[in-house]
Amino acid sequence: MAQTALPRPVVMIGMMGAGKTHIGRLLGQRLGIPFTDSDAVIEAAIGCRIADYFASHGEPAFREREYEAFESLLAGPAIVIGAGGGAVTNPKTLELLKAKAIPVWLQAATSELVRRCAGSDARPLLNNGDPTTILDGLLQKRGSLYQEAAAFMVRSDEGRDTDVVDRIIDGLKKWPQ
Ligand code: S3P
Repeated sequence: MAQTALPRPVVMIGMMGAGKTHIGRLLGQRLGIPFTDSDAVIEAAIGCRIADYFASHGEPAFREREYEAFESLLAGPAIVIGAGGGAVTNPKTLELLKAKAIPVWLQAATSELVRRCAGSDARPLLNNGDPTTILDGLLQKRGSLYQEAAAFMVRSDEGRDTDVVDRIIDGLKKWPQ
């Protein structure tokens, strides 16, 4: 699929550990377009780590910074963007994603999410409690929001990474259906 065929930025959405950054980067390489991570854009704007910003300003303030990051990212060229797992919980960001992006929901089993998130303290929502319980609880709240936002869903825990990218490209070719 050539760069010119992509009418909007593609945004990888889904839970922490679903592979949004890893698969998003591979997808960008395959499409020949840049990849950007919204968390990295936010960290550059706020000048500190997201975990520290959560601790000092709280989650609602972070969701505003996240919305601002998407406002600027989605006004730009059709690149691939990895979203933070909770981006869809801000109704303004959800609407923006639906209107200006092709959101692709990457889904994986909770056991896989836990395995991939292990050993990092960079995710403040996972720092206080049992990761399986926390992730299951978040998915309970967010599943319908991912569903609402997504142009289509792809499993990131089935097959090789290249297969996951192939399935995303198939979905993009069919979009909008
Ligand atoms: C969050 C996910 C994180 C980051 C922040 C909040 C969430 O991004 O935005 O810690 O609410 O699920 P990743 O999904 O890239 O880990």
